[in-house]
Amino acid sequence: MIVYFSATGNSRYCARLLGSLLSDTCLDAAPFIRDGIAAELSSDTPWVFVCPTYSWRLPRLFRDFIRSGSFSGSRDAYFVLTCGSDIGNAAVWNRALCGEKGLQYCGTLPVVMPENYIALFTAPEEAEARSIIALARPALERGAGQIAAGASFPEGKAGISDRLKSGIVNTLFYRFHVTARPFTVSDACVSCGRCEQACPLGNIRLRDGRPVWGGRCTHCMACICGCPAKAIEYGKISRGKPRYQCPE
Ligand SMILES: Cc1cc2nc3c(=O)[nH]c(=O)nc-3n(C[C@H](O)[C@H](O)[C@H](O)COP(=O)(O)O)c2cc1C
Ligand code: SF4
Ligand code: SF4
Repeated sequence: MIVYFSATGNSRYCARLLGSLLSDTCLDAAPFIRDGIAAELSSDTPWVFVCPTYSWRLPRLFRDFIRSGSFSGSRDAYFVLTCGSDIGNAAVWNRALCGEKGLQYCGTLPVVMPENYIALFTAPEEAEARSIIALARPALERGAGQIAAGASFPEGKAGISDRLKSGIVNTLFYRFHVTARPFTVSDACVSCGRCEQACPLGNIRLRDGRPVWGGRCTHCMACICGCPAKAIEYGKISRGKPRYQCPE
């Protein structure tokens, strides 16, 4: 079974493609995460966890979903991490997570997809995004072949900077950088409620038709990138930048 989390669609696209290549079921973890429900799942086929990379690791909300869930049946677990450039030393943490869960770690596949982190970087326009996604397809096809053959994904090399990024930098990132405080909404807001529905942590409430952010943000970018009126900004840094949604 392919289990995915996706804020702006890249990981959903990869999960669905793997699902069709492997003729396997795809399950969205978001409803479990949003409602705080511990998943109780069973699969005869290997577990394939697909998600974005946040600060060179699994997103904490997806790690916690796996940690709190029950995954019976197959003991094999693969990880597919979509990323804007690299996943650092995420593999080591995924192996440890499998150890906690009694799953057999079968490797981590990095898949470069369009950048979505507009609170820090710039996302590509649609044409460039489509060409990045086209380049990702062979890696996913190769990965599907390895899963179908029961082979592990090849191990990547991680140097000292990868260990630092996925270790101390990841800890500092969540402690000091991840906050919803800079989010603002402009008069362009049409009170559609899409941001409230999109937040995987239920961190947004509409008050008088406008979003108000709470203290549980994980910086997934679903709210700011999904607003049809482009009414949301993250301080000054998001101004004038394309909002990203996977075009496929
Ligand atoms: C909070 C945050 C942190 C990110 N950290 C990384 C990173 O460490 N390395 C990287 O290459 N891309 C990073 N990205 C980019 C995303 O992993 C990438 O665009 C991903 O494909 C988005 O997936 P989604 O569309 O399924 O949400 C980050 C994005 C966000 C929002
Ligand atoms: S998605 Fe945008 S337009 Fe819709 S309620 Fe949220 S801020 Fe307003
Ligand atoms: S508030 Fe926005 S960026 Fe933060 S977790 Fe919710 S949808 Fe993601």
